[in-house]
Amino acid sequence: MGGLGLGLGFLQYVIVVLVLMRVFLLSCGELQRIDGKMNNDGSLSFLVLGDWGRNGDYNQSQVAYQMGRIGEELDIDFVISTGDNFYENGLQGVDDKQFQYSFTDIYTAKSLQKQWFSVLGNHDYRGDVLAQLSPVLRELDNRWLCMRSFIVNSEIVNFFFVDTTPFVKKYWTKPGDDHYDWREVAPRDEYIENLLKELDFALKKYMAPWKIVVGHHTMRSVSQHGDTVELLDELLPILKANNVDLYINGHDHCLEHISSIDSPIQYFTSGGGSKAWRGDYTPNADKQRFFYDGQGFMSLQMTSTSAKIVFYDISGTSLYEWSMSKQLPIFM
Ligand SMILES: *[C@@H]1O[C@H](CO)[C@@H](O)[C@H](O)[C@H]1NC(C)=O
Repeated sequence: MGGLGLGLGFLQYVIVVLVLMRVFLLSCGELQRIDGKMNNDGSLSFLVLGDWGRNGDYNQSQVAYQMGRIGEELDIDFVISTGDNFYENGLQGVDDKQFQYSFTDIYTAKSLQKQWFSVLGNHDYRGDVLAQLSPVLRELDNRWLCMRSFIVNSEIVNFFFVDTTPFVKKYWTKPGDDHYDWREVAPRDEYIENLLKELDFALKKYMAPWKIVVGHHTMRSVSQHGDTVELLDELLPILKANNVDLYINGHDHCLEHISSIDSPIQYFTSGGGSKAWRGDYTPNADKQRFFYDGQGFMSLQMTSTSAKIVFYDISGTSLYEWSMSKQLPIFM
């Protein structure tokens, strides 16, 4: 690990600890916020991975290796995990060895020794959900940071991480053989109402040029799970009303880009962290631009006026690129 990497890592660690202390001290009605650091040239680059923790199996290790290579090339600042961090049933406790076998021992490249920002997926809710949120994991591996809903604030991008699993009604009403750990969440409706209120408030308050919302579940998807109707009904209107640029998710084990036909929102799925190749395909009314049914991950390189998004497969080959630009408002 280089000196710079260590320095940033430590600083991020300190910021995280301070934020957590603040969170414990104040029980405020606002989403928790972390202040991210930017490069001196005003750019930000990061990788997005989803649906991954399988002890290296199903090509998880190959994806990890290529993330290390691309991470080095792009000199990334952090990694985002879109959830389903540990299969099949999350972690069983803070001492569950799967944390080491599926995370610490897999993403070993130097370039990946950065802060990871993770949300929870539905599989994470099937274990001891509080374990993944516990500061004990950060003592085991200080890259780890998983919260339910939170903000990462930087000058060029505001990230809004949203806990999407509680939205999905069938997990509550028809869990089948799966057990969901709803501690600190139930009852659903109250939780969702508060979350949406806090999110709407935060989306209006933070004014970086780019707004990115990250959740586990799909908004729009042509793959196995398809759209998540609760998110279309309850979350999407708030994103549209607040000029969100990108919604990034996992859940479907594939890579995809779909453009909203009635708003500027771009939907990106990065859920190819391990098991993939589901073979399902159902188009929807929005504009599908790219769909790859296999493993891989995504990179974003951003400045205040541009964003470049690339999908990679397990050999690190770029499969698809998408660029966006934005005019900065002119202040008189
Ligand atoms: C691993 O990746 C290769 C190349 O994409 C693919 O052919 C193979 O089916 C994958 N293996 C598994 C278990 O998914």
